[in-house]
Amino acid sequence: MADLHLSQSIFILLLPFTIIFIFKSIFSASFTKSSNNFPPKSYPFIGSLFSILRNRNRFIQWTSDVVNNTPTKTVILRRPLGALRVITANPAVVRHILKTNFHLYPKGATAIHNAFDLLGDGIFNVDGDRWKLQRQVSSHEFNTRSLRHFVEHVVEVELNDRLVPIFSASAATGTAVLDFQDILQRFAFDNICQIAFGYDPAYLLPSLPEAIFATAFEEAVMIITGRIRSNLPLIWKLKRLLDVGSEKRLRIAVGVVREFANKLTKEKKQELEQKSSIDSVDLLSRFLSRGHSDETFVSDIVINFILAGRDTTSAALTWFFWLLYKNPRIENEILKEIKLKPENLIYDEVKDMVYTHASLCESMRLYPPVAVDGKEAADDDVLPDGTVVKKGYPVSYHVYAMGRLEELWGSDWAEFRPERWLEKDTSGRWVFKPRDVYEYPVFQAGPRVCLGKEMAFLQMKRVVAGVLRRFRVVPAMDDSVDPVYVVYFTAKMKGGFPVRIEDRGEING
Ligand code: HEM
Repeated sequence: MADLHLSQSIFILLLPFTIIFIFKSIFSASFTKSSNNFPPKSYPFIGSLFSILRNRNRFIQWTSDVVNNTPTKTVILRRPLGALRVITANPAVVRHILKTNFHLYPKGATAIHNAFDLLGDGIFNVDGDRWKLQRQVSSHEFNTRSLRHFVEHVVEVELNDRLVPIFSASAATGTAVLDFQDILQRFAFDNICQIAFGYDPAYLLPSLPEAIFATAFEEAVMIITGRIRSNLPLIWKLKRLLDVGSEKRLRIAVGVVREFANKLTKEKKQELEQKSSIDSVDLLSRFLSRGHSDETFVSDIVINFILAGRDTTSAALTWFFWLLYKNPRIENEILKEIKLKPENLIYDEVKDMVYTHASLCESMRLYPPVAVDGKEAADDDVLPDGTVVKKGYPVSYHVYAMGRLEELWGSDWAEFRPERWLEKDTSGRWVFKPRDVYEYPVFQAGPRVCLGKEMAFLQMKRVVAGVLRRFRVVPAMDDSVDPVYVVYFTAKMKGGFPVRIEDRGEING
């Protein structure tokens, strides 16, 4: 008995040293150093927790390396307590989950639960009939008439009356530094509110007014991303129960976001009640006039559309302008295209900006606004590459990794080369050459393909033409260090995109 006590005491004494030894030998380098173990080592109970923690600050880049270094381009990432996630960059698997077996791969209960506090029952966070209804009602918002109005009026006015004056004033100082990412988010936010809700929040003003809503929205998105990535979901659930830490901050942030959405919904309801006939064509009016009067549900719709419209095109354009600075040849090609067009562009002229369109596709290949997107298996299944999937497994497709696959893009995949999307017709004009959507699922694909894809391209191309015609966008940061691509629901440039604006002078000629 005394021997047992002695050995127990020795064990307890040695335990901390043993744990430190195990940690040190597994974390052979520092915590932040990236891991080159493909596939990552997995241990009982904790799975690949050590590799996950080691790469926690570059999770997207690390999982991209892991997937792309796997022969099938599909891996099963094991997390603590037996949780796992299937991650793929294999186009055949992407087609399988997004189209061929769409019914087998819904968003799923876990993802919906994670995001519910912010997104509620909005289109991004529902499956089945609730999704079908929203998709069907929303799709009217994206017909040619609406898109024409959007680009020729909404975007045009925001560009000429708000963005250009801010850039002109900035260029006149010669030294002012602007956060272009913030400006683009304000631009996109004003645009989406006007087209979807018939409301102008006027966030892009010379004073760059404090965006209380935007700050709360960003905080909420960040905390929910943390929930999704959490290695032990029990912890956030406990924090939520106790209303402490990040979960308390989430509750407060969501309160601010909801207040904004509810106010908008209430005002629109009143507006519609006062009208004898419904001539309003915005999305909000469309839902309300169809009898969807539940304010929480309509607010969910508002919040989901803000997410869709604000953070995607602004992320795409941020990386696009940085890549243009790094690739003056491409900037010149785009300028040539802009020079051939009048200053105020109509719908067809924007659509016809083929080289710019290809350049945007190329930029989003390298820096997709949505880096990874997830589904959940509704039943047991076998993926086309042989991976066995059990009911309830989360299955994600890794858009960022797919843009970096040599097998898809060739050995020059790292090069920003819009010509890979183009061919010349017999008269020597550029013609856009689309890629298979399952090789390039930047806008998702299949029945849930992005509803705003065309709207996004029109907006982005109009902004590119309007900005480049008059200004040079010059990064005001250390040229030798590349900006960091960080991912929440959507991707961002870490710390913003500080730029100086220079007047280009007249380019017509
Ligand atoms: C470069 C810009 C954009 C990109 C890369 C993009 C990408 C995507 C992706 C990946 C999804 C699938 C998300 C998921 O189900 O988890 C999606 C869905 C969606 N997008 Fe976009 N998007 C862009 C711009 C826009 C814009 C401007 C709108 C306009 C409001 C929009 C509206 C939507 C809607 C409503 C859905 C939900 C479709 C559904 O579930 O049926 N998107 N988008």
